[in-house]
Amino acid sequence: MTPTGAADPVSDDAFLEVTPAGRLRGSPRLPGDKSISHRALLLALLARGESRIAAAGDGADVRSTAEVCRALGAEVERVREDGGRVDYVVRSPGAGSLLEPSTTLDAGNSGTTTRLVLGMLAGQPLTATLDGDASLRRRPMGRVTEPLGAMGAIFEGADGAALLPLTVTGRRPLAPLRYRTPVPSAQIKSAILLAGLAADGETVVSEAVVTRDHTERMLRARGVDVQETTEGGRHLAALRGPADVRAVADQVPADPSGAAFWLVAAAIHPDAELTLRDVSANPTRRAIIDLLRRMGADIEERPVPGRDGTGGEEPLADLVVRSSRLRGIDVSADDVAGAIDEIPVLCLAAAVAEGRTRISGAGELRHKESDRIAGIAAGLEALGARVRIEGDDIEIEGGRRLRGAVTETHDDHRLAMTFSVAGLIAEGRTTVLRPGSAAISYPGFYRELEGVRA
Ligand code: S3P
Repeated sequence: MTPTGAADPVSDDAFLEVTPAGRLRGSPRLPGDKSISHRALLLALLARGESRIAAAGDGADVRSTAEVCRALGAEVERVREDGGRVDYVVRSPGAGSLLEPSTTLDAGNSGTTTRLVLGMLAGQPLTATLDGDASLRRRPMGRVTEPLGAMGAIFEGADGAALLPLTVTGRRPLAPLRYRTPVPSAQIKSAILLAGLAADGETVVSEAVVTRDHTERMLRARGVDVQETTEGGRHLAALRGPADVRAVADQVPADPSGAAFWLVAAAIHPDAELTLRDVSANPTRRAIIDLLRRMGADIEERPVPGRDGTGGEEPLADLVVRSSRLRGIDVSADDVAGAIDEIPVLCLAAAVAEGRTRISGAGELRHKESDRIAGIAAGLEALGARVRIEGDDIEIEGGRRLRGAVTETHDDHRLAMTFSVAGLIAEGRTTVLRPGSAAISYPGFYRELEGVRA
């Protein structure tokens, strides 16, 4: 593997060449969970006083959230850095006393930063403008500005406040809202729940499938009573505002979405055993483990003693994954919602598996950092896989020998890491164009990729 240029920092012009690995062994270091890291910072901003966040993800997306917290008046101190993880101490004046920012808030490439910050700002008595990079400017924001507008916040922006840059003027109190999300999205749910903290009454979000529940868990840990129920087959999350958020200390688990690259790498490689430590085994995040097992992956799961999640905290597990004979499966739209960030690398597993994999209802993948349906299909086809797109469904005819080719990442971190993993088993040389985006969620990924081949 020859990294040219700075492959780890987000860089615009580098490419990476990956050749097959004889064997894969070891325990790659994982980033702190990105979703939890964003929430830990934003909840620290809403809590008056000092919060501590240990082992947060140190990717560019989480750094964007940290910068936004600073611009809104919190002191955000990086007290320790360790291989792609960072410990923060955050001191904040708390909700209702945030600073009106003097410059535009920059969310960079991060959809989670944007949507959660818009939800939080909806209930703050100030005006702020939020913007991001070219990819983020294309992503749909009406899905949060519409319900947050119904609660009383005012949004200005292109296309009826559907696109960045957006200016939000918040209000306290907001009107409470009962809302059915049009697509399963933890970002929409979280934005509304964060606004609900500043509402006068009960805010309820109803979803067709339960999405990642970190906001609910973390709000409870901070003294907010979040109720979850099912009603008519839908999942409801509710809280009563106005509610204060307490400052706490957090320990961020390893990111299962980062772990997914190693789960697939080892499962598709003929001589592999990798161990992944302290990974969140949260039921709303573990779908990738269960999907790969359904494909025949040899994944051993060892729950971390004392961290089984019964107290409402994130359950943790160590995962040991070994070379496997995979077979194609049917992946439903509900499965897609549970593994939304892992579908690209799952497609790689499907390309190598015996038989056909059908992934239904994957339309949301078009609205991520890039159009991931088009991007994964083009990259895997270049590597020799057979991929058919029909509307929102992806069909992959497995069992083809992959051969090295040039793959285009569209500056999308999950595509960059997927094609790099493909290079570990594809015959010859796989070129990954502009691989630097991996640092959006997984700083140090290429160092680990080098490390596991040793
Ligand atoms: C996230 C939710 C998902 C996911 C994203 C992180 C979150 O997005 O793709 O990487 O932290 O809430 P959607 O909720 O929009 O599907």
